[in-house]
Amino acid sequence: MAKKKGRLEFLEMKKKGEKVTWITAYDYPTALFAETAGMDMILVGDSLGMVVLGYSGTIPVTMDDCIRHCQAVRKGASNTFVMGDMPFGSYQISDELAVENAVRFFKEAEVDAVKLEGGVRVKRRIRAIADSGVLVCGHIGLTPQSSGPMGGFKAQGVTPDSARYVIEDALAVEESGAYALLLEGIPPELTAFIHKRLSIPVYSIGAGAPCDGQLIICGDMLGQFQAFTPKFVKKYANVAEVVTNAFKQYAEEVRAGVFPADEHVYHIRKGCEDEYAKMLEEYE
Ligand code: KIV
Repeated sequence: MAKKKGRLEFLEMKKKGEKVTWITAYDYPTALFAETAGMDMILVGDSLGMVVLGYSGTIPVTMDDCIRHCQAVRKGASNTFVMGDMPFGSYQISDELAVENAVRFFKEAEVDAVKLEGGVRVKRRIRAIADSGVLVCGHIGLTPQSSGPMGGFKAQGVTPDSARYVIEDALAVEESGAYALLLEGIPPELTAFIHKRLSIPVYSIGAGAPCDGQLIICGDMLGQFQAFTPKFVKKYANVAEVVTNAFKQYAEEVRAGVFPADEHVYHIRKGCEDEYAKMLEEYE
């Protein structure tokens, strides 16, 4: 089995120009598939609200939801770097609450790092969490927890003025002690600039290729999440079709009496068929 990668290995990969592969997972089987496929990192994103729990956004997701799903992922991927996503409300109120919740991820779900959204406005929170000894990754650009105030899931940094905010956020995240930064939904030119400017690893989801690695949401790339597909997603499978067809076929076979067939049932032990039949007769 390959050695589990951590912060130092990711810095080494950055130096060598080797790309980090990163995917979301929310449950044991998906985590196992990700580890078996050799994924470098797994994010237990609060996107679980939409992908798994059926919410229309991430805001209702709770700390307990995140902890429970991180625990399942940790079990399925014990040899992979797992990051817990701090849900809305878990770090906005105070530095103390942010640290308390980051520590919960560490102690109760044994994650390797946590992620939170925002730059300049969460500088103190990042510093407090990093100082407590928990690895923290920043997340800026299109930040889903702020999609309401942002007017929807909209690309950021597409004008010079808006790009300035993204750059200021990136600098703030690094200065505050984050070990890595995730850029979401910004133009690749801006990603390249930030990647060149920072010394911590910089990753992308919908921010193009010029950085240290890519994150994708498993429900999107598997063709499982149906509500909408962001422009930056490539579908590698159509799980929705495969699963729906399997369910349809099963239902048809049950209705037609084709399933279960002889090979799907347990048989009476050989040699006691007569005795068995007599026993059943006694009950008639
Ligand atoms: O929750 C999540 O999956 C995320 C990604 C969109 C980056 O935060």
